[in-house]
Amino acid sequence: MVTMSPIATVIIFILMLLLVLLSLAYFTYSILLKTRPADRKKPVLPPGSMGWPYIGETFQLYSKNPNTFFALKQKRYGSIFKTHILGCPCVMVSSPEAAKFVLVTRAHLFKPTFPASKERMLGRQAIFFQQGDYHARLRRLVLRAFMPSAIRRTVADIEAVAVRTLRAWDGRRINTFQEMKTYAFNVALLSIFGKDEIEHIEELKECYYRLEKGYNSMPINLPGTLFHKAMKARKELERIVSKILASRRKKLVEFNDLLGSFMEAKEALTDEQITDNIIGVIFAARDTTASVLTWIVKYLGENPSVLQAVTEEQEEIMRSKEIDGDKYLNWDDTKLMPMTSRVIQETMRVASILSFTFREAVEDVNFEGYLIPKGWKVLPLFRNIHHSPDNFPEPEKFDPSRFERSPKANTFMPFGNGTHSCPGNELAKLEMLVLLHHLTTRYRWSLSGSEAGIQFGPFALPLNGLPISFSLKT
Ligand code: HEM
Repeated sequence: MVTMSPIATVIIFILMLLLVLLSLAYFTYSILLKTRPADRKKPVLPPGSMGWPYIGETFQLYSKNPNTFFALKQKRYGSIFKTHILGCPCVMVSSPEAAKFVLVTRAHLFKPTFPASKERMLGRQAIFFQQGDYHARLRRLVLRAFMPSAIRRTVADIEAVAVRTLRAWDGRRINTFQEMKTYAFNVALLSIFGKDEIEHIEELKECYYRLEKGYNSMPINLPGTLFHKAMKARKELERIVSKILASRRKKLVEFNDLLGSFMEAKEALTDEQITDNIIGVIFAARDTTASVLTWIVKYLGENPSVLQAVTEEQEEIMRSKEIDGDKYLNWDDTKLMPMTSRVIQETMRVASILSFTFREAVEDVNFEGYLIPKGWKVLPLFRNIHHSPDNFPEPEKFDPSRFERSPKANTFMPFGNGTHSCPGNELAKLEMLVLLHHLTTRYRWSLSGSEAGIQFGPFALPLNGLPISFSLKT
């Protein structure tokens, strides 16, 4: 019989133990590797919690700032997670790659989706709800009216609206958001109907104000309900648009505004399609632009050195125009405003007035091993992408100079991305630049100081619409 020395026994024991540990490590590693979502054959639902039956996590989302909810979830589960909001199972995504997948590369697998009452109020044939050929046709018509070569002719008219607007604030304490809404509304109407429909515009505005009161109402069409009143206002809007259409058809001239584009012979839309899309464009153009302008007033008020730099840039343009004897701003002047443009960009990043958008999966979709089931809502979280330190260092800091360099691809999407991205973005930037030219060169304003905070209506907004005291510079 062979006997081993105690030392040899210990060595063999240690070797065997090492072998067992190595096998264990290899086994665990291969299991982990296999269960990495991207390597699994069968995709699994993203991590996350679905909350209570039916109400899901709606209460958690709306009981605090929704952005806190998104940030907490992202911290816990990563850049893709599931939840359940307002009766719908949802997948939220917050990486640039996932947002691009949903909005651009696989956009055909995700259709736009809105609450039923919104769809009925804006009109079922409005651009937001469409996909495919009809959507492409509408986009062509809208872009034709809002691309730079079309809107460059309207700079002086927009300037007249801006000058009139600011003059009316002189010496008053104003609610910035409410006043910016009026400005953005007037510019939107100008770009839709041109200057010549003055006789119908006041009536049209009044109907729109009644309609928008019902935007977030329950779709119960009974006398007395907000929804019923809004639907009545919609009918009146249809009547006004029909009157304008009839008078234009008699004139037999071409118009360069949005209505002209919609009526253009080859691709003409029906009256109903035109009304739905006019209401839709007003809805898309007004509160968005007004919210961004309100944040700009706030950030400029809080950052004197930035305000100084913008003012100097705008005064330089004013001086050179005075020397040339040129009274009105033109398109080329708006291209000499890089500092002001960076302030607009940085405001849109920090404020991210549209924190997210909605889509719905039209079939089961596999994203990097995660299953997004058919019928589930998908929310690309713009704000999380704009506030990630990976994309923008010190993301909470308001620093327009960061836009001296272009942001990384798909990390800056204030106007969305892909097939439904904002066709009004050039007009929005133009009307903001024009207003800021006159605001900074001629006026001063002071913030009340007690209005820190944010509210959602539904766009992110400084608390109480940012009341300010406003006057001419002396
Ligand atoms: C600063 C102001 C604005 C912001 C931040 C903004 C933002 C956006 C965003 C993020 C989208 C895409 C939504 C999605 O993918 O679900 C969008 C779509 C749209 N926007 Fe804007 N927008 C602004 C101003 C305007 C203006 C001035 C107009 C028109 C005059 C306009 C017209 C539209 C339209 C018609 C769509 C729908 C496009 C489609 O579904 O194909 N927007 N906007």
